[in-house]
Amino acid sequence: MAMRPGRNCRPPGGISRRGHAPPPARIASSRREIAMAQTDRDDDPAEIPYRGHGIPKLGFENYWYPILRAAEVKKKPKAVRLAGRDIVVYRDDGKLYALDDRCPHRGVKLSLGECSYKGTGTISCPYHGWTFDGSNGRLVAAIMDGPDAPITRKVTIRHYPIREFAGLIWLWPGEMEPSVLEEDIPPYIGRQDEFFTIPMYTDYKCNWRWLVDNWGNDHHAQYVHRSSPELIFQPVLPFALTIEPKPLPSGKGMSFKRSGGMTSAEFPGLGRFPNNEWWRFMKPTGRGNVSGFQESKAHKVYGIQNQSELWLPGLIIVGRLSGEYALIQWAVPIDENTTRCFNINNFRRLGRMREMYDRLHYAVWRGWAHDRIFSDQDKVLVEAVVPGPERLSKSDTGVIAWRKFAGANARRPEPAGKASLDVA
Ligand code: FES
Ligand SMILES: [Fe+2]
Repeated sequence: MAMRPGRNCRPPGGISRRGHAPPPARIASSRREIAMAQTDRDDDPAEIPYRGHGIPKLGFENYWYPILRAAEVKKKPKAVRLAGRDIVVYRDDGKLYALDDRCPHRGVKLSLGECSYKGTGTISCPYHGWTFDGSNGRLVAAIMDGPDAPITRKVTIRHYPIREFAGLIWLWPGEMEPSVLEEDIPPYIGRQDEFFTIPMYTDYKCNWRWLVDNWGNDHHAQYVHRSSPELIFQPVLPFALTIEPKPLPSGKGMSFKRSGGMTSAEFPGLGRFPNNEWWRFMKPTGRGNVSGFQESKAHKVYGIQNQSELWLPGLIIVGRLSGEYALIQWAVPIDENTTRCFNINNFRRLGRMREMYDRLHYAVWRGWAHDRIFSDQDKVLVEAVVPGPERLSKSDTGVIAWRKFAGANARRPEPAGKASLDVA
């Protein structure tokens, strides 16, 4: 991956801006080791927590990512960023195309151009009319050079696999052959015959890894979200749990077995936590009902194995005990310092009346209470992280396991064999 200009650039000669010599180079024999070496040698404080894991700052490339809601791509080409790349997305005759958003002639953004030749799948640059085929990136006409311009056979720009599915636009930024989208993504989204989906997103001013760390059962939910509208009248979620991370048999992610814990405690010299919160009179319900999964309808009737799973390339699945709803939050790396956080709400199809109710409930309650208020509690904090060394504790067991798992198991064009699923 090319180094982009910015705060991570090194001056020539291998000496960092702080004046230290970087650690000696290792010989890398796999894509993972190359990624690890890049992270280990990067003196940006933001890289410190990820050293030794090989989790790239611009994300794992060989995965499908949601980039927009489908309704956002209309007649005009749309500029997007993904994994630090500027990409133009457009439709012609309903079909989607994605190309690098830079005309190689004199550098103008193709997203300012238009699809002048309907039905050809092409986009024309607004400056001198160079026209590219979206299906293969080839220059098919340099309009101002005339129809016989020899350069038309010599120029190609990068094109990307792109799909519309479940109300979202999906893009594959990697070099490997794209996987089958419906089979690669969580089944709640992939099986649109069983579920319908309501997606929304918000852009966070932080690196994608900080957001995924937030999803590793790190006990922040018990503390941060205790004041959210969904939980404010319920007991604080159990904290000081024992977390046992386990890779999924599919190799796509991990689950976290939770045991023990307490909902309040006395702290010597301080007093009780939570502190005299008399209004927590409700029984645990909805999001607060986190016990008894093995006996739940989700497990017994629908065969769902885990209430919560963390998947590559960086998404969390949080289901309900009913098995009739699951939220998927997906951290999409836009660039080093921006992450698009998708909240993809998935509802089991249980008839038209139930669907109307679920949509109404989302519009008047869930969309506001969770996707705005609850999620914004996380946004404020992950955007407030000051990069640097960490002092991890028992509650970070899941975060540590995730970093090991992701670095070892992310899909990469490995030269030989597949990495171990070991997260110990
Ligand atoms: S810059 Fe695009 S056609 Fe000239
Ligand atoms: Fe949270």
